[in-house]
Amino acid sequence: MNILGIETSCDETSAAVLHDGRVRSNIVSSQRCHSAFGGVVPELASREHERLIVSITDSAVTEANITKIELDVIAATAGPGLIGAVMVGLCFAQGMAYALEIPFVPVNHIEAHIFSPFINEGDSHHAPEGSFVSLTVSGGHTLLSVVDQDLSYEVIGRTLDDAAGEAFDKTGKMLGLPYPAGPVIDKLAEKGDPAFHKFPRALTSQSQTSKSYIDNFDFSFSGLKTSVLTWLQKQTPEFIELHLSDIAASIQWAIVSVLVEKTMLAARSRGIKSVSIAGGVSANSALRKAMKEECDNNGVTLHIPGTVYSTDNAAMIATLAGVKLSRGMKAERLYNIAPYASFAAGARKA
Ligand code: KG4
Ligand code: ZN
Repeated sequence: MNILGIETSCDETSAAVLHDGRVRSNIVSSQRCHSAFGGVVPELASREHERLIVSITDSAVTEANITKIELDVIAATAGPGLIGAVMVGLCFAQGMAYALEIPFVPVNHIEAHIFSPFINEGDSHHAPEGSFVSLTVSGGHTLLSVVDQDLSYEVIGRTLDDAAGEAFDKTGKMLGLPYPAGPVIDKLAEKGDPAFHKFPRALTSQSQTSKSYIDNFDFSFSGLKTSVLTWLQKQTPEFIELHLSDIAASIQWAIVSVLVEKTMLAARSRGIKSVSIAGGVSANSALRKAMKEECDNNGVTLHIPGTVYSTDNAAMIATLAGVKLSRGMKAERLYNIAPYASFAAGARKA
């Protein structure tokens, strides 16, 4: 079975082909037109997707060594995301499925991140067995979920304000770093001291009495943002420049330590011995290292998709469609799925 996946929810135009559950191609084009604006400009994103969607899809099909008529199913992100951006990929995918007279499967982008440990590239693949705790951290979302063996999942914690990726991007902007600042902070922090300055960590053992934090899996990063801003205002430009790596490492640790603490707390409290991290921020080297150490110390298995599958990609869209179809979902020739912007709206429709 050949499944074509399409992803256009934010600033990556991506198409992938899955052959019998394995990734045959995964083409990702990251838009560069936003860097001058310090964030993704929705209208520009839609136009870029429109410009590239046909050639990216053609490349994915060619690289998979098949022709379009050998496709059995097409899947695309239906949301959440920038509504115009989602619409480009969704309408294109449904139009293509209609023309080829094959079924179409709409996919929830966040669910695709949650199930990205199931992306199968080859023989060394080991998807989690049994239940696992999923930390999904991207530019728009920060979710802790418990995923059951039957692939149903329960969101047990989410951010009350900014997403973890946003915390990286916005504090990075205050430091004069280009968008997206997450990977830049990651790189700078390699040479910095995470204990240089202690920024606040909301809703954790540091900030609450042990009784109230123990069953609170929500996150909050807006206080960190304010704290970084006010602290930077008190420093001279020379001091900031001299200690840029130390400041980056301190900000990174304030975000990463909360993510690790909450994830491990969730696994412990639910008695679950398997954890996964997914979404753009899961590419962060400090997060990967700290989570690995904590998991090793607690006899927990850690699942992390390869770095190319951390940030937005179509392989995860095709994979989730494939997993659902293999577990009994009926593929239908329906081409009237509407896009949605928010996770809540998508969860209702899933
Ligand atoms: O999942 P993703 O590609 O797009 C969304 O669905 O949001 O995530 C993008 C986010 C951005 O905020 C970016 O700064 C962050 O992931 N990111 C990182 C790293 N690589 C990407 N954050 C920290 N360290 C990284 N290495
Ligand atoms: Zn994403």
